[in-house]
Amino acid sequence: MKAAQINEYGKDAVVINPDALVPELSSGKVLVKVHAAGVNPIDWKVSEGYMSQGKKRSFPLTLGGDFCGIVMDVGEEVTQFRKGDEVYGSGIILAGGSGAFAEFVVTNEKLISKKPDRADCMEAAALPLVGVSAWEVLYNKMKLKKNQKVLIHGGLGGIGSMAIQIAKHLGAYVATTAGKDKTGYLKKLGADVIIDYRSERFEERLHDYDAVFDTVGGDTYRRSFLVLRKGGIIVSMLEQPDNELMDRYQVEAVGQFTKITGEGLKKVAGFYDSGVITVNIDRIFPLEMAGEALRYLRDASVKGKVVIKIE
Ligand SMILES: NC(=O)c1ccc[n+]([C@@H]2O[C@H](COP(=O)([O-])OP(=O)(O)OC[C@H]3O[C@@H](n4cnc5c(N)ncnc54)[C@H](OP(=O)(O)O)[C@@H]3O)[C@@H](O)[C@H]2O)c1
Repeated sequence: MKAAQINEYGKDAVVINPDALVPELSSGKVLVKVHAAGVNPIDWKVSEGYMSQGKKRSFPLTLGGDFCGIVMDVGEEVTQFRKGDEVYGSGIILAGGSGAFAEFVVTNEKLISKKPDRADCMEAAALPLVGVSAWEVLYNKMKLKKNQKVLIHGGLGGIGSMAIQIAKHLGAYVATTAGKDKTGYLKKLGADVIIDYRSERFEERLHDYDAVFDTVGGDTYRRSFLVLRKGGIIVSMLEQPDNELMDRYQVEAVGQFTKITGEGLKKVAGFYDSGVITVNIDRIFPLEMAGEALRYLRDASVKGKVVIKIE
C-alpha cells in the first residue's frame, strides 16, 4: 500500500512509500481503508522528532492520526464495529495505531466512532483531535456556563475554530485572538470580540474574563493571566500549570492532554450533525504531497483545517 512515512526525524524527512506493508490486525483492533486524513500540528511534530523523547520508535514510521474511512476487517474481541462501517477517529502511532497517512490503518476500536452522518469523509477526517480537544476543555475542564466570558486564542486554527462554535452553543461571550481574518470567518463562527494578535495586545482590551483557552502557549499563555478575574481558569493545550502565576493572580491553571475516545468522538459527531459546529477545509492535498501538507500547516496561516485525500 501507499503510505507517507519517515525513515529518520527531520524537517523534510517525509517520503512516500508505494510498497509499505498493510498493517496487521490484532485483538481489539480494526483495519480501515482510509479515505481522508486530517492534518494536525502533532503530525509535523512527530515527523521532526519533537515527540521522540521517552519511547524509542522503529522506522519506517507512518505519520498521521485523524482519519475517516471504511472498516475492512475486525480483530477478535471487537464488539462495536463490523466490516462496511463508515468510521472516523485516530490511528496515531503515539496511541498504538499504525498511522493514518496511508491507504490502510489499524487502530484500537476505542479510538474510533461512527462518522457524523452530515459530514463527508473530508470533513469527518478534519474533526477528531480538534473537536474532542475543544469539547473536553470547554465541558470537562472549564465547565463553561451561559453568559460567562471566555477568551479563545488562535480562533482561525483547528482547535480555536471548534472552540468558538461550541462556546457560543453553551451561551458564552467569546473573545478570540487570530491573525488577520480577511473574510469575516470569525464573526460567522460567532466570535463577539476579535483581536488581531499581530497588531494588538489582548490583555489591554480584555478584563475580568471567566476563562482562557490557550492554544498558543509561551508569552501568550503568561499574558493571559492578566485577562482573568479572581477564581477564573486558564486551560492550555501546550503549557503545564504555572504555580507562581496561579498564586499571583489567584486563578486556576490546567494543562490539557487530549486522549481520543469513542465518547468524545460521539459528542463531536453529535455537534456536527445538529449544526453546532462546521469545519472549514482550507486546503486538500493528495497523499503524495503529505510532506507539503505538513509544511503548509506549520508555515502558512491556515483557516480551519488541512486534509489529505487518499484514494
Ligand atoms: N495537549 C494536547 O493534547 C494537544 C492536542 C491537540 C493540539 N495540541 C497543540 O495545540 C496547538 C493548537 O493546535 P491546532 O490544531 O489548533 O493548531 P493550528 O490549527 O495550527 O492553529 C493554531 C492557531 O494559532 C494561531 N496563532 C499563532 N500564534 C498566535 C498568537 N500569538 N496569538 C493568537 N493566535 C496565534 C495560528 O495563526 P497563524 O497561522 O496566523 O499564526 C493558528 O491559527 C498546537 O501547538 C498543537 O500541537 C495539543
